[in-house]
Amino acid sequence: MVELPVTLAGIKLHNPTVLASGILGVSASSAALAVAHGAGAVTLKSCGAEPRLGHRGPTILPVPGGLLNAVGLSNPGAAAVAHEIRDFRGRCEVPLVASIFGRTEAEFGEVAAIICDAHPALLEVNVSCPNVSSEFGTPFGLDHDATARITRIVKDIAGTIPVFIKLSPQAHNIGSLARRCQDAGADGITAINSVGPGMAIDVYTRRPILSNLSGGLSGRAVLPVAVRCVYEIAQNVSIPIIGTGGITTPEDALQMILAGATAVGIGTGVHSTGISIFQEVCRGLSEYLEESGFTGLDDIRGAANDR
Ligand code: SIN
Repeated sequence: MVELPVTLAGIKLHNPTVLASGILGVSASSAALAVAHGAGAVTLKSCGAEPRLGHRGPTILPVPGGLLNAVGLSNPGAAAVAHEIRDFRGRCEVPLVASIFGRTEAEFGEVAAIICDAHPALLEVNVSCPNVSSEFGTPFGLDHDATARITRIVKDIAGTIPVFIKLSPQAHNIGSLARRCQDAGADGITAINSVGPGMAIDVYTRRPILSNLSGGLSGRAVLPVAVRCVYEIAQNVSIPIIGTGGITTPEDALQMILAGATAVGIGTGVHSTGISIFQEVCRGLSEYLEESGFTGLDDIRGAANDR
């Protein structure tokens, strides 16, 4: 049995699977459930400065190849999430990734300050939600300058807590955007957020089904987009990448690692496969390494990028 430890910006994970943001909410209990089923790290749903209801239902819709979602960043607010982080740290040793968003660039800093006070292992900065950009006025993650400024603001506040910037596949030249994040002080990149947004129409009501009309696409169908993004990012940065998007099987996770990811985010896969997905992916990764004669994930990381 080949062991699968990885290190993300100095934070040790016993395996590379990371519960992605958004799929199991913000509670310490649901994060602990993913840990009990083998996740190497867990990410909470993104939180903002104030409690937020999000969009009214329907907010999530199964579609061929995955899910469409426009949840609208519902969350109980940073103070309540900080409480959950402390609760989680009291019961689990596995690294916890807190995810934050802001309605303005300055607000990213305010939320970071509240959350960092609870000492998550890592801080993920969500500049890439596809479902609220019109409401917030600026699609931060599509604007390279704004993303670099937010990175700097958050990193100044986070200090020694590693900061990962979660990027959108819709961003123009994602490799150079990731480089801007690195230059602005990011310790890592999470890629990707959901794709689109897309739309599904009810043929009987003859109206879009999601209350927000459109929503981000996640799940198996987006894997090739995510792998391409991770591949391009890996060519442009030296900081670690959490490759997220469509991972359902060990082979999907391997593609991400071969593209250059250090760890793999699993979100919609929990929905489609069940909470056993973390152990199943790890078992498959370990078997692949053993059968191919490798001693660890370092032996294959980024191999697809060797030209
Ligand atoms: C949402 O809450 O609408 C999705 C969050 C995200 O994709 O960042």
